[in-house]
Amino acid sequence: MKYAVFSTSPLTQKTDCLVLGLFKEDTDNALFKSADEKTNGKLSRLIQSGDISTDSAKSTWVLGIDGPFERILCIGLGKKDEYSLENLRKSARAVAAALVGSPVTKAVSAIPAPATLPYASAALETVVQAISAATYRSDGLKSKPKDAAKLAELRIHAPELPKKNAAALLKQAEAIAAGMNLTKDLGNLPGNVCTPKYLAKQAKKLAKANAALSVEILGEKEMRKLGMGSFLSVSAGSEEEGQLIVIRYNGSAAETRPHVLVGKGITFDTGGISLKPGEAMDEMKYDMCGAASVFGTLKALAEMQAPLHVIGVIAAAENMPSGQATKPGDIVTSLSGQTIEILNTDAEGRLVLCDALTYAERFEPETIVDIATLTGACIIALGHQASGLLANNDELASQLLAAGQQTGDRCWQLPLWDEYNTQLDSNFADMQNIGGRPAGTITAACFLSRFTKKMKWAHLDIAGTAWVSGKDKGATGRPVPLLTRYLLNQIPSA
Ligand code: BES
Ligand code: MN
Ligand code: ZN
Repeated sequence: MKYAVFSTSPLTQKTDCLVLGLFKEDTDNALFKSADEKTNGKLSRLIQSGDISTDSAKSTWVLGIDGPFERILCIGLGKKDEYSLENLRKSARAVAAALVGSPVTKAVSAIPAPATLPYASAALETVVQAISAATYRSDGLKSKPKDAAKLAELRIHAPELPKKNAAALLKQAEAIAAGMNLTKDLGNLPGNVCTPKYLAKQAKKLAKANAALSVEILGEKEMRKLGMGSFLSVSAGSEEEGQLIVIRYNGSAAETRPHVLVGKGITFDTGGISLKPGEAMDEMKYDMCGAASVFGTLKALAEMQAPLHVIGVIAAAENMPSGQATKPGDIVTSLSGQTIEILNTDAEGRLVLCDALTYAERFEPETIVDIATLTGACIIALGHQASGLLANNDELASQLLAAGQQTGDRCWQLPLWDEYNTQLDSNFADMQNIGGRPAGTITAACFLSRFTKKMKWAHLDIAGTAWVSGKDKGATGRPVPLLTRYLLNQIPSA
Protein backbone atom coordinates (compact mmCIF):
# COMPACT_ATOMS: atom_id res chain seq x y z
CA MET A 1 0.00 0.00 0.00
CA LYS A 2 1.16 3.47 -0.89
CA TYR A 3 -0.15 6.29 1.28
CA ALA A 4 0.04 10.04 0.86
CA VAL A 5 -1.48 13.00 2.66
CA PHE A 6 -2.66 16.26 1.15
CA SER A 7 -4.53 19.35 2.27
CA THR A 8 -5.85 20.84 -1.01
CA SER A 9 -9.36 20.17 -2.34
CA PRO A 10 -10.21 16.44 -2.57
CA LEU A 11 -12.48 17.17 -5.54
CA THR A 12 -9.65 17.97 -7.94
CA GLN A 13 -7.77 14.72 -7.26
CA LYS A 14 -7.63 12.32 -10.19
CA THR A 15 -8.44 8.88 -8.80
CA ASP A 16 -10.56 5.74 -9.20
CA CYS A 17 -12.66 6.58 -6.20
CA LEU A 18 -13.41 9.47 -3.89
CA VAL A 19 -14.34 8.41 -0.37
CA LEU A 20 -16.65 11.10 0.90
CA GLY A 21 -17.66 11.45 4.54
CA LEU A 22 -21.26 12.61 5.02
CA PHE A 23 -22.79 13.95 8.20
CA LYS A 24 -26.51 13.81 8.83
CA GLU A 25 -28.42 16.93 7.75
CA ASP A 26 -25.25 18.86 7.02
CA THR A 27 -26.22 20.70 3.84
CA ASP A 28 -24.01 23.76 4.51
CA ASN A 29 -20.85 21.70 4.25
CA ALA A 30 -18.66 23.32 1.55
CA LEU A 31 -17.06 20.06 0.46
CA PHE A 32 -20.43 18.34 0.20
CA LYS A 33 -21.88 21.26 -1.74
CA SER A 34 -19.19 21.22 -4.38
CA ALA A 35 -19.26 17.42 -4.63
CA ASP A 36 -23.01 17.64 -5.07
CA GLU A 37 -22.57 20.28 -7.78
CA LYS A 38 -20.00 18.14 -9.54
CA THR A 39 -22.55 15.33 -9.68
CA ASN A 40 -25.39 17.62 -10.78
CA GLY A 41 -27.24 17.15 -7.52
CA LYS A 42 -27.07 13.36 -7.62
CA LEU A 43 -25.69 13.09 -4.08
CA SER A 44 -28.39 15.20 -2.48
CA ARG A 45 -31.09 13.37 -4.46
CA LEU A 46 -29.80 9.99 -3.31
CA ILE A 47 -29.61 11.16 0.29
CA GLN A 48 -33.14 12.51 -0.01
CA SER A 49 -34.44 9.21 -1.41
CA GLY A 50 -32.65 7.24 1.29
CA ASP A 51 -30.35 5.44 -1.15
CA ILE A 52 -27.34 7.00 0.55
CA SER A 53 -27.37 6.59 4.29
CA THR A 54 -25.67 9.18 6.48
CA ASP A 55 -25.91 6.87 9.50
CA SER A 56 -22.56 6.30 11.13
CA ALA A 57 -20.38 3.71 9.37
CA LYS A 58 -22.93 3.03 6.57
CA SER A 59 -21.22 2.99 3.19
CA THR A 60 -22.81 3.42 -0.25
CA TRP A 61 -21.25 3.25 -3.69
CA VAL A 62 -22.23 5.86 -6.24
CA LEU A 63 -21.01 4.80 -9.65
CA GLY A 64 -20.86 6.46 -13.04
CA ILE A 65 -19.54 9.82 -11.83
CA ASP A 66 -18.32 12.08 -14.57
CA GLY A 67 -15.36 13.81 -12.99
CA PRO A 68 -11.74 13.32 -12.06
CA PHE A 69 -13.02 10.15 -10.33
CA GLU A 70 -15.43 7.46 -11.57
CA ARG A 71 -16.91 6.49 -8.25
CA ILE A 72 -17.78 7.98 -4.93
CA LEU A 73 -17.83 5.80 -1.87
CA CYS A 74 -20.09 7.64 0.53
CA ILE A 75 -19.54 6.96 4.19
CA GLY A 76 -22.11 8.06 6.74
CA LEU A 77 -20.69 9.76 9.81
CA GLY A 78 -23.87 10.32 11.82
CA LYS A 79 -24.68 13.63 13.49
CA LYS A 80 -21.91 16.20 13.26
CA ASP A 81 -22.11 17.18 16.94
CA GLU A 82 -21.82 13.54 18.01
CA TYR A 83 -18.88 12.77 15.73
CA SER A 84 -15.92 11.25 17.58
CA LEU A 85 -12.72 9.34 16.97
CA GLU A 86 -14.63 6.16 17.82
CA ASN A 87 -17.11 7.03 15.06
CA LEU A 88 -14.30 7.60 12.63
CA ARG A 89 -12.76 4.26 13.60
CA LYS A 90 -15.95 2.36 12.74
CA SER A 91 -16.47 4.35 9.55
CA ALA A 92 -12.88 3.86 8.43
CA ARG A 93 -13.28 0.10 8.92
CA ALA A 94 -16.44 0.11 6.81
CA VAL A 95 -14.66 2.10 4.10
CA ALA A 96 -11.69 -0.26 4.17
CA ALA A 97 -13.95 -3.30 3.82
CA ALA A 98 -15.84 -1.72 0.90
CA LEU A 99 -12.67 -0.65 -0.91
CA VAL A 100 -10.93 -3.98 -0.46
CA GLY A 101 -13.95 -5.82 -1.84
CA SER A 102 -14.04 -3.58 -4.93
CA PRO A 103 -11.97 -3.26 -8.11
CA VAL A 104 -10.62 0.13 -6.96
CA THR A 105 -6.81 0.39 -7.01
CA LYS A 106 -6.42 4.08 -6.18
CA ALA A 107 -8.60 6.03 -3.80
CA VAL A 108 -8.74 9.44 -2.18
CA SER A 109 -10.12 9.70 1.32
CA ALA A 110 -12.08 12.78 2.29
CA ILE A 111 -13.33 11.75 5.72
CA PRO A 112 -13.04 14.68 8.09
CA ALA A 113 -11.17 14.41 11.38
CA PRO A 114 -13.23 14.96 14.53
CA ALA A 115 -12.96 18.51 15.87
CA THR A 116 -10.93 17.51 18.90
CA LEU A 117 -8.14 14.99 18.62
CA PRO A 118 -5.95 13.59 21.41
CA TYR A 119 -2.90 14.22 19.20
CA ALA A 120 -2.50 15.70 15.73
CA SER A 121 -2.20 12.46 13.78
CA ALA A 122 -4.90 10.47 15.59
CA ALA A 123 -7.40 10.56 12.71
CA LEU A 124 -4.75 9.77 10.12
CA GLU A 125 -3.51 6.80 12.18
CA THR A 126 -7.06 5.53 12.45
CA VAL A 127 -7.56 5.54 8.68
CA VAL A 128 -4.16 3.99 7.93
CA GLN A 129 -4.76 1.24 10.50
CA ALA A 130 -8.20 0.46 9.09
CA ILE A 131 -6.83 0.08 5.55
CA SER A 132 -3.82 -1.87 6.78
CA ALA A 133 -6.03 -4.29 8.72
CA ALA A 134 -8.36 -4.83 5.76
CA THR A 135 -5.50 -5.52 3.35
CA TYR A 136 -3.61 -7.72 5.82
CA ARG A 137 -3.25 -11.34 4.71
CA SER A 138 -1.93 -14.27 6.70
CA ASP A 139 -1.76 -16.93 4.03
CA GLY A 140 1.97 -17.49 3.66
CA LEU A 141 1.43 -21.14 4.56
CA LYS A 142 -1.35 -21.79 2.06
CA SER A 143 -0.18 -23.50 -1.12
CA LYS A 144 -2.25 -21.03 -3.16
CA PRO A 145 -2.41 -17.67 -1.40
CA LYS A 146 -5.60 -15.64 -1.82
CA ASP A 147 -5.41 -12.78 -4.29
CA ALA A 148 -3.97 -9.70 -2.65
CA ALA A 149 -6.27 -6.69 -2.32
CA LYS A 150 -6.42 -4.60 -5.51
CA LEU A 151 -6.22 -1.40 -3.54
CA ALA A 152 -2.67 -0.11 -3.90
CA GLU A 153 -2.79 3.60 -3.20
CA LEU A 154 -4.68 5.83 -0.78
CA ARG A 155 -4.32 9.58 -0.64
CA ILE A 156 -5.73 10.99 2.56
CA HIS A 157 -7.16 14.47 2.89
CA ALA A 158 -5.77 15.57 6.25
CA PRO A 159 -5.92 19.36 6.52
CA GLU A 160 -5.77 19.03 10.32
CA LEU A 161 -2.09 18.04 10.20
CA PRO A 162 0.49 20.74 10.87
CA LYS A 163 1.95 21.42 7.39
CA LYS A 164 5.58 21.19 8.34
CA ASN A 165 5.44 17.65 9.72
CA ALA A 166 2.55 16.10 7.81
CA ALA A 167 4.92 13.78 5.97
CA ALA A 168 6.63 12.69 9.20
CA LEU A 169 3.27 12.01 10.83
CA LEU A 170 2.20 9.86 7.89
CA LYS A 171 5.45 7.93 8.20
CA GLN A 172 4.67 7.45 11.88
CA ALA A 173 1.17 6.16 11.15
CA GLU A 174 2.55 3.75 8.56
CA ALA A 175 5.24 2.58 10.99
CA ILE A 176 2.63 1.72 13.63
CA ALA A 177 0.60 -0.22 11.06
CA ALA A 178 3.76 -2.05 9.92
CA GLY A 179 4.58 -2.87 13.55
CA MET A 180 1.08 -4.26 14.05
CA ASN A 181 1.46 -6.40 10.93
CA LEU A 182 4.70 -7.88 12.26
CA THR A 183 2.95 -8.61 15.56
CA LYS A 184 0.12 -10.32 13.67
CA ASP A 185 2.49 -12.28 11.43
CA LEU A 186 4.43 -13.68 14.38
CA GLY A 187 1.28 -14.33 16.39
CA ASN A 188 -0.46 -16.18 13.58
CA LEU A 189 2.43 -18.56 12.91
CA PRO A 190 1.89 -22.08 14.23
CA GLY A 191 3.91 -23.46 17.11
CA ASN A 192 5.85 -25.83 14.87
CA VAL A 193 7.24 -22.85 12.95
CA CYS A 194 7.38 -20.14 15.57
CA THR A 195 9.67 -21.68 18.19
CA PRO A 196 11.88 -19.79 20.67
CA LYS A 197 14.81 -20.11 18.26
CA TYR A 198 12.62 -18.83 15.42
CA LEU A 199 11.80 -15.73 17.48
CA ALA A 200 15.51 -15.25 18.15
CA LYS A 201 16.18 -15.44 14.42
CA GLN A 202 13.42 -12.91 13.71
CA ALA A 203 14.95 -10.54 16.26
CA LYS A 204 18.28 -10.73 14.45
CA LYS A 205 16.53 -10.17 11.14
CA LEU A 206 14.73 -7.12 12.51
CA ALA A 207 17.98 -5.66 13.82
CA LYS A 208 19.75 -6.26 10.53
CA ALA A 209 17.18 -4.13 8.75
CA ASN A 210 17.66 -1.17 11.06
CA ALA A 211 20.94 0.35 12.27
CA ALA A 212 19.40 1.70 15.49
CA LEU A 213 18.48 -1.84 16.63
CA SER A 214 20.79 -4.45 18.12
CA VAL A 215 20.15 -7.92 19.49
CA GLU A 216 21.60 -10.19 22.11
CA ILE A 217 20.42 -13.77 22.69
CA LEU A 218 20.87 -15.86 25.81
CA GLY A 219 20.42 -19.62 25.46
CA GLU A 220 19.68 -22.06 28.27
CA LYS A 221 23.37 -22.49 29.11
CA GLU A 222 23.76 -18.77 29.77
CA MET A 223 20.49 -18.65 31.69
CA ARG A 224 21.57 -21.58 33.85
CA LYS A 225 24.83 -19.79 34.63
CA LEU A 226 22.91 -16.70 35.69
CA GLY A 227 20.58 -18.75 37.89
CA MET A 228 17.31 -18.31 36.02
CA GLY A 229 15.81 -21.42 37.57
CA SER A 230 12.24 -20.21 37.23
CA PHE A 231 12.48 -19.58 33.48
CA LEU A 232 14.27 -22.88 32.92
CA SER A 233 11.60 -24.83 34.80
CA VAL A 234 9.20 -23.95 31.97
CA SER A 235 11.37 -24.96 29.03
CA ALA A 236 12.54 -28.11 30.89
CA GLY A 237 9.82 -30.28 29.34
CA SER A 238 10.41 -29.12 25.78
CA GLU A 239 12.79 -30.21 23.05
CA GLU A 240 12.96 -26.57 22.00
CA GLU A 241 15.61 -24.56 23.76
CA GLY A 242 14.37 -21.50 25.65
CA GLN A 243 15.73 -18.13 24.55
CA LEU A 244 16.02 -14.80 26.30
CA ILE A 245 16.04 -12.22 23.53
CA VAL A 246 17.18 -8.67 24.18
CA ILE A 247 16.48 -6.09 21.46
CA ARG A 248 17.85 -2.61 22.00
CA TYR A 249 16.63 0.44 20.20
CA ASN A 250 18.53 3.64 20.69
CA GLY A 251 17.12 6.52 18.69
CA SER A 252 17.93 9.23 21.19
CA ALA A 253 21.21 11.11 20.90
CA ALA A 254 21.55 11.52 24.64
CA GLU A 255 22.27 8.59 26.95
CA THR A 256 18.96 8.31 28.73
CA ARG A 257 17.64 5.53 30.94
CA PRO A 258 15.66 3.15 28.75
CA HIS A 259 12.00 2.29 28.80
CA VAL A 260 11.93 -1.49 28.94
CA LEU A 261 9.25 -3.75 27.44
CA VAL A 262 9.17 -7.39 28.54
CA GLY A 263 7.14 -9.84 26.44
CA LYS A 264 5.79 -13.28 27.31
CA GLY A 265 6.91 -15.51 24.47
CA ILE A 266 5.46 -18.95 25.17
CA THR A 267 5.49 -20.27 21.61
CA PHE A 268 3.07 -23.00 22.62
CA ASP A 269 1.38 -23.53 25.96
CA THR A 270 0.10 -27.07 26.48
CA GLY A 271 -0.08 -26.40 30.21
CA GLY A 272 2.81 -28.81 30.80
CA ILE A 273 2.13 -31.63 33.28
CA SER A 274 -0.93 -29.62 34.40
CA LEU A 275 -2.13 -30.31 30.86
CA LYS A 276 -4.81 -28.09 29.37
CA PRO A 277 -8.05 -29.58 28.03
CA GLY A 278 -7.98 -30.21 24.29
CA GLU A 279 -10.69 -27.78 23.24
CA ALA A 280 -9.23 -24.75 21.43
CA MET A 281 -5.76 -25.68 22.60
CA ASP A 282 -4.51 -24.63 19.16
CA GLU A 283 -5.08 -21.06 20.30
CA MET A 284 -2.18 -21.45 22.70
CA LYS A 285 0.08 -20.79 19.73
CA TYR A 286 -0.88 -17.17 20.46
CA ASP A 287 0.74 -17.39 23.88
CA MET A 288 3.70 -15.46 22.47
CA CYS A 289 1.63 -12.43 21.48
CA GLY A 290 3.15 -10.33 24.28
CA ALA A 291 6.56 -11.01 22.77
CA ALA A 292 5.18 -10.29 19.31
CA SER A 293 3.90 -6.90 20.50
CA VAL A 294 7.39 -6.04 21.72
CA PHE A 295 8.73 -6.89 18.25
CA GLY A 296 6.02 -4.79 16.62
CA THR A 297 6.52 -1.80 18.89
CA LEU A 298 10.28 -1.79 18.36
CA LYS A 299 9.82 -2.10 14.62
CA ALA A 300 7.41 0.84 14.65
CA LEU A 301 9.76 3.02 16.72
CA ALA A 302 12.73 2.13 14.55
CA GLU A 303 10.87 2.79 11.29
CA MET A 304 9.71 6.19 12.46
CA GLN A 305 13.14 6.90 13.99
CA ALA A 306 11.59 7.94 17.28
CA PRO A 307 14.01 9.81 19.54
CA LEU A 308 13.70 7.29 22.36
CA HIS A 309 15.76 4.67 24.17
CA VAL A 310 13.80 1.43 24.45
CA ILE A 311 14.89 -2.11 25.27
CA GLY A 312 12.75 -5.16 24.56
CA VAL A 313 13.27 -8.33 26.57
CA ILE A 314 11.54 -11.45 25.29
CA ALA A 315 11.15 -14.58 27.36
CA ALA A 316 10.70 -17.29 24.73
CA ALA A 317 9.99 -20.89 25.71
CA GLU A 318 7.66 -23.76 24.93
CA ASN A 319 5.57 -25.30 27.73
CA MET A 320 5.35 -29.07 27.21
CA PRO A 321 4.79 -32.20 29.28
CA SER A 322 7.56 -34.80 29.19
CA GLY A 323 9.80 -36.90 31.41
CA GLN A 324 11.97 -33.83 31.92
CA ALA A 325 9.07 -31.51 32.64
CA THR A 326 8.53 -29.68 35.89
CA LYS A 327 5.98 -31.38 38.16
CA PRO A 328 3.36 -29.79 40.41
CA GLY A 329 5.00 -29.33 43.80
CA ASP A 330 8.48 -28.76 42.41
CA ILE A 331 10.35 -25.87 43.99
CA VAL A 332 12.73 -23.72 41.94
CA THR A 333 14.99 -20.77 42.67
CA SER A 334 14.43 -17.67 40.57
CA LEU A 335 17.12 -15.27 39.38
CA SER A 336 16.09 -12.93 42.20
CA GLY A 337 16.97 -15.63 44.74
CA GLN A 338 13.33 -16.04 45.78
CA THR A 339 12.08 -19.63 45.72
CA ILE A 340 8.84 -20.66 44.02
CA GLU A 341 6.65 -23.70 44.64
CA ILE A 342 5.14 -24.58 41.27
CA LEU A 343 1.69 -25.89 42.09
CA ASN A 344 0.40 -25.64 38.54
CA THR A 345 2.69 -25.89 35.54
CA ASP A 346 0.07 -24.11 33.44
CA ALA A 347 0.82 -20.88 35.32
CA GLU A 348 4.07 -20.74 33.33
CA GLY A 349 3.95 -17.20 31.97
CA ARG A 350 4.75 -15.67 35.32
CA LEU A 351 7.61 -18.15 35.75
CA VAL A 352 9.43 -16.99 32.63
CA LEU A 353 8.47 -13.35 33.14
CA CYS A 354 9.73 -13.07 36.71
CA ASP A 355 13.26 -14.01 35.64
CA ALA A 356 13.09 -11.75 32.59
CA LEU A 357 11.94 -8.87 34.82
CA THR A 358 14.80 -9.47 37.26
CA TYR A 359 17.22 -9.69 34.34
CA ALA A 360 15.94 -6.32 33.07
CA GLU A 361 16.88 -4.60 36.34
CA ARG A 362 20.42 -4.34 34.97
CA PHE A 363 19.22 -1.85 32.37
CA GLU A 364 18.13 0.54 35.14
CA PRO A 365 14.82 1.17 33.38
CA GLU A 366 13.09 4.51 33.55
CA THR A 367 9.91 2.41 33.39
CA ILE A 368 9.28 -1.26 32.72
CA VAL A 369 6.11 -2.69 31.18
CA ASP A 370 5.50 -6.38 30.65
CA ILE A 371 2.98 -7.62 28.12
CA ALA A 372 1.55 -11.11 28.46
CA THR A 373 -1.33 -13.39 27.53
CA LEU A 374 -1.20 -14.28 31.18
CA THR A 375 -4.59 -15.35 32.50
CA GLY A 376 -7.86 -16.73 31.19
CA ALA A 377 -9.37 -14.87 34.14
CA CYS A 378 -8.63 -11.58 32.38
CA ILE A 379 -11.04 -12.57 29.60
CA ILE A 380 -13.68 -13.24 32.25
CA ALA A 381 -13.03 -9.84 33.85
CA LEU A 382 -12.73 -7.59 30.80
CA GLY A 383 -13.81 -9.64 27.80
CA HIS A 384 -12.15 -8.78 24.52
CA GLN A 385 -12.40 -5.00 24.74
CA ALA A 386 -9.70 -3.96 27.16
CA SER A 387 -6.34 -5.34 28.19
CA GLY A 388 -5.85 -5.71 31.94
CA LEU A 389 -3.53 -3.16 33.53
CA LEU A 390 -1.85 -3.51 36.90
CA ALA A 391 0.99 -1.34 38.14
CA ASN A 392 3.06 -0.42 41.17
CA ASN A 393 3.19 3.22 40.06
CA ASP A 394 0.14 5.42 39.58
CA GLU A 395 1.72 7.83 37.13
CA LEU A 396 2.81 5.01 34.84
CA ALA A 397 -0.64 3.44 35.07
CA SER A 398 -2.39 6.67 34.15
CA GLN A 399 -0.06 7.20 31.20
CA LEU A 400 -0.85 3.74 29.86
CA LEU A 401 -4.57 4.26 30.41
CA ALA A 402 -4.35 7.56 28.54
CA ALA A 403 -2.42 6.04 25.63
CA GLY A 404 -5.05 3.31 25.39
CA GLN A 405 -7.85 5.85 25.37
CA GLN A 406 -6.07 7.99 22.76
CA THR A 407 -5.57 5.09 20.35
CA GLY A 408 -8.72 3.10 21.02
CA ASP A 409 -6.42 0.24 22.09
CA ARG A 410 -7.75 0.44 25.59
CA CYS A 411 -6.67 -1.04 28.90
CA TRP A 412 -8.41 -0.98 32.27
CA GLN A 413 -6.77 -0.99 35.66
CA LEU A 414 -7.29 -3.64 38.33
CA PRO A 415 -6.05 -3.24 41.92
CA LEU A 416 -2.80 -4.68 43.23
CA TRP A 417 -3.67 -4.54 46.92
CA ASP A 418 -1.54 -6.34 49.49
CA GLU A 419 -4.51 -8.41 50.60
CA TYR A 420 -4.42 -10.29 47.29
CA ASN A 421 -0.73 -11.01 47.70
CA THR A 422 -1.32 -13.35 50.62
CA GLN A 423 -3.05 -15.78 48.22
CA LEU A 424 0.47 -16.63 47.02
CA ASP A 425 1.88 -17.62 50.41
CA SER A 426 3.45 -21.08 50.32
CA ASN A 427 4.16 -23.53 53.14
CA PHE A 428 7.41 -24.68 51.58
CA ALA A 429 8.86 -21.85 49.48
CA ASP A 430 8.91 -18.05 49.39
CA MET A 431 5.78 -18.13 47.27
CA GLN A 432 3.61 -20.44 45.17
CA ASN A 433 2.86 -19.78 41.53
CA ILE A 434 -0.94 -19.79 41.78
CA GLY A 435 -3.37 -17.94 44.04
CA GLY A 436 -6.54 -19.98 43.59
CA ARG A 437 -9.62 -19.09 41.52
CA PRO A 438 -10.58 -15.71 42.99
CA ALA A 439 -9.00 -12.71 41.20
CA GLY A 440 -6.74 -14.78 38.96
CA THR A 441 -5.53 -11.82 36.93
CA ILE A 442 -4.66 -9.88 40.05
CA THR A 443 -2.80 -12.68 41.81
CA ALA A 444 -0.80 -13.32 38.62
CA ALA A 445 0.24 -9.65 38.67
CA CYS A 446 0.91 -9.88 42.43
CA PHE A 447 3.33 -12.67 41.65
CA LEU A 448 5.18 -10.46 39.16
CA SER A 449 5.11 -7.50 41.55
CA ARG A 450 7.36 -9.47 43.89
CA PHE A 451 10.09 -9.20 41.26
CA THR A 452 9.70 -5.55 40.30
CA LYS A 453 9.88 -3.75 43.65
CA LYS A 454 12.89 -1.68 42.56
CA MET A 455 11.32 -0.45 39.32
CA LYS A 456 8.39 1.65 38.07
CA TRP A 457 6.51 -1.29 36.65
CA ALA A 458 3.25 -2.02 34.88
CA HIS A 459 1.78 -5.24 33.56
CA LEU A 460 -0.60 -5.59 30.60
CA ASP A 461 -2.61 -8.81 30.50
CA ILE A 462 -3.57 -9.18 26.83
CA ALA A 463 -5.23 -12.61 27.08
CA GLY A 464 -8.52 -11.14 25.79
CA THR A 465 -7.17 -8.65 23.25
CA ALA A 466 -4.20 -10.23 21.45
CA TRP A 467 -6.22 -12.39 19.10
CA VAL A 468 -9.77 -13.10 18.00
CA SER A 469 -11.31 -16.58 17.80
CA GLY A 470 -13.91 -17.96 15.44
CA LYS A 471 -14.27 -17.52 11.71
CA ASP A 472 -12.09 -14.41 11.55
CA LYS A 473 -9.51 -16.02 13.80
CA GLY A 474 -6.21 -14.19 13.95
CA ALA A 475 -3.84 -12.01 15.93
CA THR A 476 -4.99 -8.39 16.34
CA GLY A 477 -1.70 -6.51 16.56
CA ARG A 478 -2.72 -5.16 19.95
CA PRO A 479 -1.36 -3.57 22.08
CA VAL A 480 1.15 -2.08 19.62
CA PRO A 481 -0.87 1.16 19.18
CA LEU A 482 -1.12 1.60 22.96
CA LEU A 483 2.56 0.89 23.61
CA THR A 484 3.81 3.04 20.74
CA ARG A 485 1.64 5.98 21.77
CA TYR A 486 2.67 5.61 25.42
CA LEU A 487 6.33 5.71 24.39
CA LEU A 488 5.87 8.59 21.94
CA ASN A 489 4.17 10.50 24.73
CA GLN A 490 7.44 10.22 26.68
CA ILE A 491 9.23 12.41 24.13
CA PRO A 492 9.35 15.85 25.81
CA SER A 493 8.15 17.90 22.80
CA ALA A 494 5.66 15.34 21.43
N1 BES B 1 -1.60 -18.69 28.46
C1 BES B 1 -2.47 -18.98 29.52
C2 BES B 1 -3.55 -17.93 29.72
C3 BES B 1 -4.63 -17.90 28.68
C4 BES B 1 -5.59 -18.90 28.63
C5 BES B 1 -4.72 -16.84 27.82
C6 BES B 1 -6.59 -18.83 27.69
C7 BES B 1 -5.75 -16.77 26.89
C8 BES B 1 -6.67 -17.78 26.82
C9 BES B 1 -1.70 -19.08 30.83
O1 BES B 1 -0.43 -19.61 30.74
C10 BES B 1 -2.47 -19.97 31.73
O2 BES B 1 -2.59 -21.12 31.42
N2 BES B 1 -2.99 -19.43 32.82
C11 BES B 1 -3.76 -20.17 33.73
C12 BES B 1 -3.34 -19.77 35.12
C13 BES B 1 -3.90 -20.65 36.19
C14 BES B 1 -3.31 -22.04 36.10
C15 BES B 1 -3.59 -20.04 37.54
C16 BES B 1 -5.23 -19.86 33.48
O3 BES B 1 -5.55 -18.70 33.15
O4 BES B 1 -6.05 -20.77 33.57
MN1 MN C 1 -0.46 -21.73 30.84
ZN1 ZN D 1 0.48 -19.39 28.94
